[in-house]
Amino acid sequence: MANNRRAGIISIGSALPEKVLSNSDLEKIVDTNDEWIRTMTGISERRMAEDGKATSDYAIEAAKVALDRAGMSAADIDLIIVATVTPDMPFPATASIVQNALGAEQCPAFDLNAGCSGWVYGLATANAFVTSGMYERVLVIGADVLTRVTNWTDRSTCILFGDAAGAGIVAPVDDDYGMLGFDLGSDGSGAESLCIPAGGSRSGCTHEDIDNHRDKIVMEGREVFKFGVKIQGEATERVLAKVGMTTDDIDLIVPHQANIRIIESAVNRLGLPPDKFFVNLHKYGNTSAASIPVAVDEAIREGRIKKGDTVVTVGFGAGLTWAAGVMKWAY
Ligand code: ACO
Repeated sequence: MANNRRAGIISIGSALPEKVLSNSDLEKIVDTNDEWIRTMTGISERRMAEDGKATSDYAIEAAKVALDRAGMSAADIDLIIVATVTPDMPFPATASIVQNALGAEQCPAFDLNAGCSGWVYGLATANAFVTSGMYERVLVIGADVLTRVTNWTDRSTCILFGDAAGAGIVAPVDDDYGMLGFDLGSDGSGAESLCIPAGGSRSGCTHEDIDNHRDKIVMEGREVFKFGVKIQGEATERVLAKVGMTTDDIDLIVPHQANIRIIESAVNRLGLPPDKFFVNLHKYGNTSAASIPVAVDEAIREGRIKKGDTVVTVGFGAGLTWAAGVMKWAY
């Protein structure tokens, strides 16, 4: 990477709704059972946004935690990126709502839509801005409230998703630390295998669409599963090769928390011990763009990530997209 200087994450925070939706709660909504969900996905419970709360509410909460931990105020932030597939409204950008609520006066702000890969795409974007010298401190938030766009009559999807937000601050760091490289990609031929078909510019949203739940998540689970299995290992290997590292150099991989079986396949492919992978999906389910920053925050608080550690973050999601990043942890 042709960097003028090194950028890294200097603080991170997360926010989760208090309301817990357990597998046994779901048994009362659709024809499913705790054992099937745990065996097929690894998920035991997930968090669900309180009534009246939107993506920006959790994004703001996570951002405040990250700012507090960095000893910064919103005035110190030069750019806000919100990675989300569930904006408060189709427009304006949720990032602008966050910017106003934080009091980051006139700070540029935009949303980034790369599905569950969004936060790592956001890190790569922030890295480019900071290493080029255009901005000093970029707030990169991954936030989603997927339970608002969940089809609660579809047992193959409604068991998967939860709500959360995570926020990282990207800023210049010493040369020994920070982000080393990324492998980002998209395969738009899979666009329809994970989407919300109605409500966009192609066809709007009709009464019939609502009756048929086309305003909610539609997923070809097996296709997305196969993609996730293939891409998490491949993208990790590619990003390591780009920066001249091997799997032996990795201290911790923080994968997108979609399905324990997808993570296990990456464990097998990369030939690493399972404890090199951070997993918290049993508690939160798949929280889309929030999944990786929430997991990174938890890994730090549990002492699983320390200064100087080599950390890989790798995600995949709607698009279909993928994103892997490798960094030397900076604090
Ligand atoms: N409870 C009980 N049985 C179920 C349930 C359920 N909740 N859901 C499906 N089944 C049944 C099916 O009806 C089917 O029964 P049948 O064989 O009698 O027809 C059987 O279980 C197998 O169903 P499949 O859908 O084929 O099962 P699969 O092995 O594909 O697992 C799952 C389903 C868990 C959804 C899996 O496909 C998956 O995890 N896919 C990836 C999802 C994912 O990672 N999404 C990422 C999203 S990223 C983003 O951007 C939001």
